[in-house]
Amino acid sequence: MTILVTGGAGFIGANFVYHMLEKYPSYKVICLDALTYAGNMETLATAMENPQFIFIKGDIADREAVYKVFESHKPDWVVNFAAESHVDRSITNPDIFLRTNVIGTGVLMDACRKYGTSRFHQVSTDEVYGDLPLDRPDLFFTEETPIHTSSPYSASKASADLLAQAYHRTFKLPVTISRCSNNYGPYHFPEKLIPLMIANALNDKSLPVYGKGENIRDWLYVLDHCVAIDLILHKGKVGEVYNIGGHNERTNLDVVKTILKELNKPESLINYVTDRPGHDMRYAIDPTKINNALGWLPSTSFDEGIKKTIKWYLDNRKWWENILAGEYQGYYEKMYAGR
Ligand code: NAD
Ligand code: TYD
Repeated sequence: MTILVTGGAGFIGANFVYHMLEKYPSYKVICLDALTYAGNMETLATAMENPQFIFIKGDIADREAVYKVFESHKPDWVVNFAAESHVDRSITNPDIFLRTNVIGTGVLMDACRKYGTSRFHQVSTDEVYGDLPLDRPDLFFTEETPIHTSSPYSASKASADLLAQAYHRTFKLPVTISRCSNNYGPYHFPEKLIPLMIANALNDKSLPVYGKGENIRDWLYVLDHCVAIDLILHKGKVGEVYNIGGHNERTNLDVVKTILKELNKPESLINYVTDRPGHDMRYAIDPTKINNALGWLPSTSFDEGIKKTIKWYLDNRKWWENILAGEYQGYYEKMYAGR
């Protein structure tokens, strides 16, 4: 079994690479990653020592390069994590989101058709459903919830989902799609809420909370996401969409206060800044389908997962400090100066 994992040098892709190498020692895992600002070879250092793992630097939207990878490695399955993934960046520069998230997904699926790949799995997001109102805690995203996007990021991910469904229907490409809620855990790039707040708190820097901090996200520990994708690959039904997440809703302010408390830092570090344009209010997943079909439910509660995550950031300071010392510094100034 050979699995091509695109975007495996990023947060979730890398966790998935480690999960698969450990659980299936006989599988070959090929990682194709363009190493954008979000890709980090330090994250894959241990995988690089495993003879079952091969890393290839390349862009999923580069047709020639992608076909070459398929020609050489003939993957049985493709799991597409490669994406531009940060909503704030999609607001300042939507173009690259269209190229990677939409065109790149199309190129990968063309390669799957050409080389007879037996599964293309698209890693999508609950953000394709738009948001839920704060005053309707009874509402959840199901797989039947209409696509209704808010940001250029979510619009590009929804476009990729629609393309994947079209390739399944028109070309009979064996596609599965998963739509997951917000992940957190080891190797999370410190531009996203949880790692950014941990890093800032540890450096006694202010914690920029957008608006009033009342927006709600449904947080999923990253290994739970990896296990769900593993199950979909081995037992899921081709042509189906599976929502992943559930039962871990927190307001941003709750999350930030929990981090400060765990690190023994004062709440005076919280700084309310101008809200994100088009900011989605609430995400919340109904995992009934994947629970009934594949027996999956989140196994790590937020209270447990956030403690493990904070510990990881304390134990792996060098990993995130190296990132903060690099390209990210310029980005931080651009996004937050004068906000
Ligand atoms: P990330 O930004 O940490 O990593 C993305 C990876 O893709 C990086 O290694 C980057 O170098 C690579 N990449 C970017 N453009 C590429 C290209 N053109 N060709 C090849 N590689 C390229 O993202 P993440 O948080 O790990 O998210 C992974 C996937 O999961 C994305 O598709 C995202 O939409 C989806 N997702 C993320 C979350 C979340 O909470 N982070 C939730 C649901 C779904
Ligand atoms: P983020 O981690 O960017 O994920 P997403 O936008 O895909 O849900 O943001 C999570 C939430 O945290 C979102 O409501 C925006 C908010 N947020 C802040 O309040 N401050 C920040 O500096 C960041 C990055 C996010």
